[in-house]
Amino acid sequence: MIPRETVDQIIETAQIEEVVGEFVNLKKKGANLWGLCPFHNEKTPSFSVAPAKGIYKCFGCGEGGNSVNFIMAHEAMSYPEALRYLAKRYNIEVEEEEMTPEMEAAVSERESQYVVMAYAESYFVEQLWESEAGKAIGLSYFKERGFDEATIRKFGLGYSPESWEAFTKTALENGYKKEFLVKTGLSKDKNDRLYDGYRGRVIFPIHNLSGRPIGFGGRTLKTDKKVPKYINTPECEIYNKRKVLYGLYFAKKSIVAEDACMLVEGYTDVISMHQAGFENVVASSGTSLTLDQIRLISRYTQNITILYDGDTAGIKASFRGIDLILEQGLNVRVVMFPDGEDPDSFVRSHTREEASDFIASNAKDFIVFKTDLLYAETAGDPIKKAALVHDIVDTIALIPDEIKRSLYIRECSDLMQIPEKALLSELNKARRKLLKKRENKAPVEGPPPPAFDAGFPSGDAVPALPDGVSPDELPPDFFDPDRAVGEDPNDCSHQERDMVRLLLQYCHKTFKLEQPSEDPKGKPEKVEVMVIDFILGELEHDNIQLENPIYQRIVEELDELDKKHSDEEKEFNAEAAFLNHSDQEVCKACVDLLSSKYELHDWERKGIFVDPEDRKIKKAVMGSVYSYKAKKVGQMIATNERELKAAFTDEKEFSEIEKLLETKVQLNNIKKELAKPGGRVILR
Ligand code: UTP
Ligand code: MN
Repeated sequence: MIPRETVDQIIETAQIEEVVGEFVNLKKKGANLWGLCPFHNEKTPSFSVAPAKGIYKCFGCGEGGNSVNFIMAHEAMSYPEALRYLAKRYNIEVEEEEMTPEMEAAVSERESQYVVMAYAESYFVEQLWESEAGKAIGLSYFKERGFDEATIRKFGLGYSPESWEAFTKTALENGYKKEFLVKTGLSKDKNDRLYDGYRGRVIFPIHNLSGRPIGFGGRTLKTDKKVPKYINTPECEIYNKRKVLYGLYFAKKSIVAEDACMLVEGYTDVISMHQAGFENVVASSGTSLTLDQIRLISRYTQNITILYDGDTAGIKASFRGIDLILEQGLNVRVVMFPDGEDPDSFVRSHTREEASDFIASNAKDFIVFKTDLLYAETAGDPIKKAALVHDIVDTIALIPDEIKRSLYIRECSDLMQIPEKALLSELNKARRKLLKKRENKAPVEGPPPPAFDAGFPSGDAVPALPDGVSPDELPPDFFDPDRAVGEDPNDCSHQERDMVRLLLQYCHKTFKLEQPSEDPKGKPEKVEVMVIDFILGELEHDNIQLENPIYQRIVEELDELDKKHSDEEKEFNAEAAFLNHSDQEVCKACVDLLSSKYELHDWERKGIFVDPEDRKIKKAVMGSVYSYKAKKVGQMIATNERELKAAFTDEKEFSEIEKLLETKVQLNNIKKELAKPGGRVILR
């Protein structure tokens, strides 16, 4: 583990403009630097680097982070890899940290499993290339399948001899412990006798993101249907099949370069495609795609192309999994191979150009593909057709981006010959249902999609434009579509966001607050309060937990940091602390919070002066907290109304109804108070 101090030192030393500047041509404009985004295709620069904050942010594709994130995204590296890369570049020595006994035990458990896996990989490779049986059976099998030697070596393919304990015996003789051999499935334990897990099979090692083997697929060479075709590594500390994508280690660079990832079914499809020159290919290895795997891909690209062999039943079965991908905001295309062909057989019987043309000309947008495929089956059957419409609209409803949703509605209206208006009203119903379902399914996973933030202080639904700026001058996504739709009038995610942003940005700044004097007849007194004390105080007072778990975590950690630093009478920079947080999710959420879009429009250059926010901190902070509370009260009123309705229909005791009515009155009073300017209100 790299100690926190070293991480901080690396982040401090690695100037964001230098790190990014090595890959992107940057020009200074105002306080920031601008260039063409390396993460998506564009002709005019919307990629900005803010040296003062140490972050980059693309306003086109939303990619953003600090210098470590940049290296991770651009070079397809893991967090520690990126840190070591930067350390090397800036000559910072990295010594690994001493660990507690528990950490050591956990690490040594994992490390022992890694070590056994690495040994097994080298054993199987050696058997394949050196032993007589390996050459005669394993190697010739791979060659017959069309894999060339370089490919076989690159993917670390191997052979496990047809013997009960050849591997196990050698491993034990070489000092590998029985415990780890059994845990990793390399050896099986039967009545205290160990035997080999992959007897007489060819071996496909599965690598993690840094290229270490963490599992194996062993394919039988027998055609006997009773023998399982593949034996895979059991779940253990280092192998979880739901979190692994076969081939990702070899594919990640190409996925970034192509800005697309192709998804196939099996080990052999990945390898054949790779050999044929398509390197951005991964497989989910026999499981249907999981959320973890989708998140893994989305670190490198937002574009997924699924390659199907021509089996319609299998395709329909996968539709549910694809809904998961759409829900994550990724773009999904599908290619169907001719009947009886899979990607492996197709690339072997065609040239690279043919295959590439085939994929390009057959790739269909998923929703169009699904509509086409199912629509054909509804011919002349209005009931089936109606069911299909609901099915398709439910899928479209999952897409987070409103613009995309409306484009799909238009497209599908053509395909199914249904008026757009009818589909739109179905879509709205489906969205409402979905949001309700999510509301009941707390906690929300991950941060919300990056939303609009113009850097304006108020928590109003739509910010006022500065004088002299007409809406036409703004980029098309200036108004967050999800905000304008107003699907849930009590949704307070924007207010939460605004409040946490102010908290981080102006943490230790102060403003003057009027408080009633202790002497009842005296004039109100002005007291100086810090932004952090004010906001955290208000939250604590009302016992409010933020709905977004990441924001809640930020608030809690900030509170702790602040307490720790004030005990030691040290200062700290809240913005920097969270922008460089060791948890990537927190880090990303803060970059999204703190890169404000109005810098993009370059208003200062146009001579349009925007009043800097810190001059109006008080207004900003109080406005934010109160509009947040107003939303909260709105939520409480809605709940109260629901409860009241239920109490009436269920004919509850009068006392219970009375209590609810009392709450109703109180809530309405609070609502009125909150509407008044400047009044401090406590919710409970
Ligand atoms: P396939 O049957 O398509 O295998 O299963 P394949 O990899 O294409 O092998 P060939 O081309 O027939 O030799 C697809 C994937 O499903 C998983 C494996 O990950 C395989 O690559 N699988 C399949 C298993 O885990 N166990 C099995 O018994 C079968
Ligand atoms: Mn196959």
